[in-house]
Amino acid sequence: MHIFHTIAEVRAWRREQESVAFVPTMGNLHEGHLKLVEAAKQRAARVIVSIFVNRLQFGQGEDFNSYPRTFDDDCQKLITAGADALFFPNEQELYPRVKQDFNVEPPHVQNELCGAFRPGHFRGVATVVCKLFNIVQPDVACFGKKDYQQLHIIRAMCADLNIPVEIVAVDTGRAEDGLALSSRNGYLTADERAKASRLYHNLCVIRDALVAGEHDYASLEQTAVADLVAHGWQVDYVEIRQADTLEIAHAGEKRLVILAAARLGKPRLIDNLEVFI
Ligand code: PAF
Repeated sequence: MHIFHTIAEVRAWRREQESVAFVPTMGNLHEGHLKLVEAAKQRAARVIVSIFVNRLQFGQGEDFNSYPRTFDDDCQKLITAGADALFFPNEQELYPRVKQDFNVEPPHVQNELCGAFRPGHFRGVATVVCKLFNIVQPDVACFGKKDYQQLHIIRAMCADLNIPVEIVAVDTGRAEDGLALSSRNGYLTADERAKASRLYHNLCVIRDALVAGEHDYASLEQTAVADLVAHGWQVDYVEIRQADTLEIAHAGEKRLVILAAARLGKPRLIDNLEVFI
């Protein structure tokens, strides 16, 4: 596997490839990331992964400094998974002027759901993904559905800014008990980990009710919040939204997504479930 630290190296490599699929990550790779690499391999002749912990998408008091950096381990996993190249830039390479004047400003959806609790987060995500797309110039890029709002914003960015990258959504990787795989699961204590699948459990309860014809979305959301709070979670939100637009869902909608974010001890966990009725 090639390991590139500079933009020039990536561009030189890219020029020689027929088709490229790209998996942007922040490292600390788990099975969920490897599913993205697997999906990428099916869509292009070559797969390149990036590892970059993007300061721009972390708010004040968030875990930028403590975010797990596990480069050697990540490289081994990527070699085993069959990635062809890894882009591992430092901050100076991606943000040479430290603070950029130009950023990608997503529309109002960036201030809702997770954005309401992480101001500026999606501007940071969209900006770095746009930069990475301009550097790698992939034909295809793979993103996990676990970050559903991120996926939505990146799709909209590509559509509105005519970025010629096909965005592939990959199903969320889950542990046996249903917990969505995430680098932040590593922050859970053993006791918290044993309880952590309650978030997914609540999404499943709502899904089953929706499939059974329940239309009182507010009541479903409130019941889930109350259950999580009763079990020691600090809930940011549980919301039923339109799957395609992330707009507020109205009774009778057929394509829905249930999204949730809540803290159990230190980590803030997110998850979601699509419901197509
Ligand atoms: O999903 C992530 O790991 C990050 O938000 C991404 C897309 C790599 C941008 O930093």
